[in-house]
This record gives sequence, C-alpha cells and structure tokens, in this order.
Amino acid sequence: MGGFFKSSIGRKVAMALSAFFLMIFLLQHFAINILSVFNPDVFNEVSHFMGTSSIIQFVIQPILIFGVVFHFVMGFILEFKNLSSRKVKYIKNQSAANSSWMSRNMIWSGVAILAFIILHFIDFWFPEINTKFIKGDWSGLHEGVDGYRYFHELQENFLNPVRVGAYVVAFVFLALHLLHGFTSAFQSMGVTAGRKKTLQNIGIAYSIILPLGFIFIALYHHFNHH
Ligand code: HEM
Repeated sequence: MGGFFKSSIGRKVAMALSAFFLMIFLLQHFAINILSVFNPDVFNEVSHFMGTSSIIQFVIQPILIFGVVFHFVMGFILEFKNLSSRKVKYIKNQSAANSSWMSRNMIWSGVAILAFIILHFIDFWFPEINTKFIKGDWSGLHEGVDGYRYFHELQENFLNPVRVGAYVVAFVFLALHLLHGFTSAFQSMGVTAGRKKTLQNIGIAYSIILPLGFIFIALYHHFNHH
C-alpha cells in the first residue's frame, strides 16, 4: 500500500480522494453559510451545534484539517515531480494545443486558494479556537449581542471592502481550480468511461454555481449588515 501511494498513479488517486472529500465539505460549508442570508437565527443555531458538538470538533474537524493539508502537500509534490521528471524539455512544447490553461495552472489557482484559506482562518477559525480553547468559553454568547454571536461575527468580517474583494477574487480562483479538478478527480479514479459528457456538465455546474454562491454570501453581508 505504501508503495502504491509513492507511485505516480497512487499519488493521483490520493489527490482525487482528498479532492472528493473537500468537494463534499464545500457543499456542506455552503449549505450552512447560505442560511446566514435567509435565516440568521437558524444559522446561529446550526453554527452553535457545529461549534460545540464533540464529534464535529474532535473527530470531523481534525479529519477535515488533515484533508486540507494533505491535498496541498500532495499537490505540491505532484507538481514538483512532474517538473523534475522531464529533465530535457520538449524541443517544441505546444502545451496550449493539448491541455487547457486551467489544467496547466492548477498549482497557481491552488496557491491562491491556500492564501485565501490562511486569511479565512485568521478571520474565522483562529478567533473560534481562541474563544473555545484558550478562553474556555463554549457558551456561544458575546456581550452586547442578542442570542448567539456567530451571525454577528460573520457580518463583522464582511465590513471591510478590501477583505470582501480578496474573498471574491479567491472564489474566482476556486471556480477555475474546480473547473479542471472536478472531472480530473473522476478521471484519476477511472470513473469517466461512457459518461464523460454528463460528468463534465455536472462538473461545470458545481464549479460555477458554488463559487458564485460564496461570492453572493460575501457581497450580501457587505451590503446588508445591521
Ligand atoms: C462567503 C463564504 C464563506 C463564509 C461566510 C465562510 C464561513 C466560515 C466560518 C464561519 C468558519 C468557522 C467555522 C468554525 O467555527 O470552525 C469557516 C471555517 C472554514 N472555512 Fe469557510 N466560509 C466561506 C467560504 C469558504 C471557502 C470557499 C472555503 C474553501 C475553499 C472555506 C474553507 C473553510 C475551512 C477549511 C474552514 C475550517 C474548518 C471548519 O471549522 O469548518 N470557506 N468558514
């Protein structure tokens, strides 16, 4: 098994498996965050449940963080191996003729998403860890805020237009990354035979609708805070 994941095919399979996992995470992350637009009270309730459930905090969340780190590290290793495996360059490298711009730039859209995740963790995740694990406050309450604090904190993070701009740019990179990554992940698992067009269409829908939805959430809170 160790040998398999050190082979080039094994690495692609590992990359695809972690990609599936992250794509499912993104769907549930969107489903919860869109609640903040339609029903702040329900968003608060769900956030409090997610933030205080021990299964989510101590089992699912560590798996998720591992999945995120694994995907980035593996992505860098794959990119590096691809570059170094061809010591002598093709005399005439017509890469534009046989691969898409997106597929050749997965590493760069990935780096942009990594930069976003760092910013995003500074905005949401680190303060959350600080409140719960350093201050030991699991109440979900905040002085001067009616009900749970999560909706209020979310709105605060979208006040700054530069921050919102950075989020929007990152979500465009996310769309580019997914546009190639979605079908590529299925291809690495050998699932495309006979259904290539359908998969491509689902991939395009997922890759465009989801980032657009995230952009909508960010802009909505920027222009509608109270
Ligand atoms: C407008 C869009 C978004 C909003 C409002 C949002 C909101 C949040 C919030 C409130 C948390 C803190 C959860 C906690 O308490 O631990 C969080 C965590 C996180 N977000 Fe987002 N997010 C957005 C988009 C994204 C996107 C596009 C990605 C991935 C590319 C992402 C990846 C993560 C990850 C990995 C975590 C840490 C894991 C977790 O605790 O759930 N987020 N986000």
